[in-house]
Amino acid sequence: MLDKIKETAEYLRNRVGGEMPRIAIILGTGLGPLVDHIDDKVYIPYSEIPNFPVSTVEGHSGNLIFGTLGGKPVIAMQGRFHYYEGYDMKTVTFPVRVFKALGVEILFVSNASGGMNKEFQVGDVMTITDHINLFPEHPLRGRNYPELGTRFPAMTYAYDPELKALADKVAAENDIRLMHGVYVGVTGPTFETPAEYEYYRIIGGDCVGMSTVPEVIVANHAGMRVYGISVITDLGGKDVTQVPTHEEVQQAAVIAQPKCLTIMKELVARVQL
Ligand code: HPA
Repeated sequence: MLDKIKETAEYLRNRVGGEMPRIAIILGTGLGPLVDHIDDKVYIPYSEIPNFPVSTVEGHSGNLIFGTLGGKPVIAMQGRFHYYEGYDMKTVTFPVRVFKALGVEILFVSNASGGMNKEFQVGDVMTITDHINLFPEHPLRGRNYPELGTRFPAMTYAYDPELKALADKVAAENDIRLMHGVYVGVTGPTFETPAEYEYYRIIGGDCVGMSTVPEVIVANHAGMRVYGISVITDLGGKDVTQVPTHEEVQQAAVIAQPKCLTIMKELVARVQL
């Protein structure tokens, strides 16, 4: 694994040249168009990157994009690798390892999720304050390489408190209704039954989705600071009769996109490295 990480990082360094970004962004469902706001882009299709798998989901294109956002160099992942696609957790989180090897210090993640919190509305955006990991495979299971991180990493501040506070400030300044909540990470690819949404709410979740948790765990293992934002694309619970669809999820994500964009852009511009 260490050799693969080195090989991929080396390839990207040679291909892109210059100073490597210290910020990486994983663009979730419907948020791919955020790349339109990245300047001086270099696109690298996943298919051309050694050791990178190719993303298979509709609505997710697979490119690594180097450029600048809010005046700072960034790497953006357009399309991520989901556990439900059949990848193992080491593969799902491999790009985060490569980011670290390139010198990335801060990871921004975004995703779409189903809301259980009764205050939430479709199209809301939510700062992920914490998560509950319900994936059946742990990304750190197996041999631990001390070069990559400690055997038993703490997850107390998995989502960086300063970045959360900065997001609140940006939201207030821009009149954005920014919710806070706990993201429950599950495998999918089924959406939840009404009883499952209810269960995830009762155990402390505000929304549920099929990504993010593995990448955030590995980013923390690697000593990176993380900010996560979730777009509430549908609502679930025992009284909810509306059936969620992939199309509805995509549409709601597009509606919420300007809010996400403002928050992401301002956070990148203002964060102290
Ligand atoms: N459940 C799980 N994942 C999701 C949902 C949902 O309701 N909406 C968007 N991603």
